[in-house]
Amino acid sequence: MPDDTPTPPPRPLPPKPAARPDKVTLWRYARLFRRDILSAQPARLYRAWMAEFRTPFFRSYMCNDPDLVDLVLRRRPGDFPKSRRLREGLTPLLGNSVFITNGTTWARQRRIIDPAFEGGRLRDTFPAMWDAGQAMIARLNPRADGRPLEIEAETSHAAADVIFRTLFSIPIEHELAAGVFAAFRAHQKAQPLLNIGALLPLPAWVPRLHSRRTRATARTIRTAITRMTADRAAALEAGTAPDDLATKIMTTPDPETGETFDTAEMADQVAIFFLAGHETSASALAWALYLLALYPDWQERLAEEAQAAIDPDRIYFSTLSKLPQARAVFRETMRLYPPVPMYVREAVKSEQFRGRDVCPGAQVIVSPWHLHRHTRLWDRPDEFDPARFATENGKKCLREAYIPFSAGPRVCPGAGFAMAEGPLLLSMLVRAFRFERIEGDAPVPQAQLTVRARDGIRLRLRTR
Ligand code: HEM
Repeated sequence: MPDDTPTPPPRPLPPKPAARPDKVTLWRYARLFRRDILSAQPARLYRAWMAEFRTPFFRSYMCNDPDLVDLVLRRRPGDFPKSRRLREGLTPLLGNSVFITNGTTWARQRRIIDPAFEGGRLRDTFPAMWDAGQAMIARLNPRADGRPLEIEAETSHAAADVIFRTLFSIPIEHELAAGVFAAFRAHQKAQPLLNIGALLPLPAWVPRLHSRRTRATARTIRTAITRMTADRAAALEAGTAPDDLATKIMTTPDPETGETFDTAEMADQVAIFFLAGHETSASALAWALYLLALYPDWQERLAEEAQAAIDPDRIYFSTLSKLPQARAVFRETMRLYPPVPMYVREAVKSEQFRGRDVCPGAQVIVSPWHLHRHTRLWDRPDEFDPARFATENGKKCLREAYIPFSAGPRVCPGAGFAMAEGPLLLSMLVRAFRFERIEGDAPVPQAQLTVRARDGIRLRLRTR
């Protein structure tokens, strides 16, 4: 008997940038690289354990072998510090931030910062995340009428709001917060290839002057951030400071030296909290919403979960434990679209990687983008399947080949924070709205400061 049940149409795959041909000239590679580091790479990197790039100016090694990644990030991180180029690229904005320091300065900064992000503090931070979510819903409500809406701008706005509320107890509408957010957008326009310049280790004689506009926007951001930090120092002195992350960090002495951050060093850290904390979460949240629009069955599952778990009158940290599906979706989103797609380190001494000599000064690249889609590690690597983490393969890969927050001592201190913020906001949003994609308008992933869509992500929203 012929089976006349209609076969369901194949599920679309999440967008992936087209890879370049295996062989291109160095000149072409450099041009592709400047445009987008993701599409500049050949397809074979998704199945390679390691790749060596030789150019007249530098050598770099991309490590996709979980054991090599473990060596660089966990076992011997001191031998693979952050590269000088990265520092140069980011110094105007970040000064002496923990993101770009190395050695003893970095270790001291982490000793002061880490306690602010521990579990207990996250509990205290949670209500501010909820408030930012409510504010986002209020902003979106008048626009939830089925018209196309560019969602990345909305998630950036919300993630910046989360940072200001949790760090300084002020909403994004506050004059100083709004000023930093606006200046940051201008800064990205002035220096859109912030990370690309840092990744490409051109020889020292190539001038790398920051443009006048880049310096100006960086200065505006830093002036506002310094003012916020100085105001907080004064409030602490007067005994009127609120109990938030800034207060916690500014009053925590280094357990080894007893010193606290002075205002200038704190301002450097605030700059990185703002940058690392909002760009990344915004990227993950925007892709998650797109994926939920692409897979409405998952969206409905999350909406039901959120409906049952969230009681707006009793919103406690424990709500998070009732949102396992949202957590799985957020995790799977960061597998497919790791907000920080590559990490660059520098080898300080001679090394052997998989039998190949690596000379001092070589660039060592760890690429979550490739590791997370590695065809020899993951089952169905290009498919969206949040349930995969309950399978044997998913669990193994979660331990060995999943690093959206990096790993080892330089792991993102905000990982726990982001894993609370992301699933919470996602749940609040799908509880309030239905997200629909627009036929023929698929976003193209591109590595900007984080992994973003080349021309934005447009969705239609409808109130539930
Ligand atoms: C989805 C959200 C986030 C992702 C995917 C993410 C990812 C990362 C990654 C991959 C690194 C290491 C980069 C490298 O080694 O080159 C990092 C470092 C860092 N992140 Fe996050 N992050 C997120 C959210 C946050 C938040 C919310 C904060 C703070 C409020 C934060 C603060 C930092 C800081 C200070 C560092 C530097 C740590 C160090 O070098 O010791 N991040 N993050």
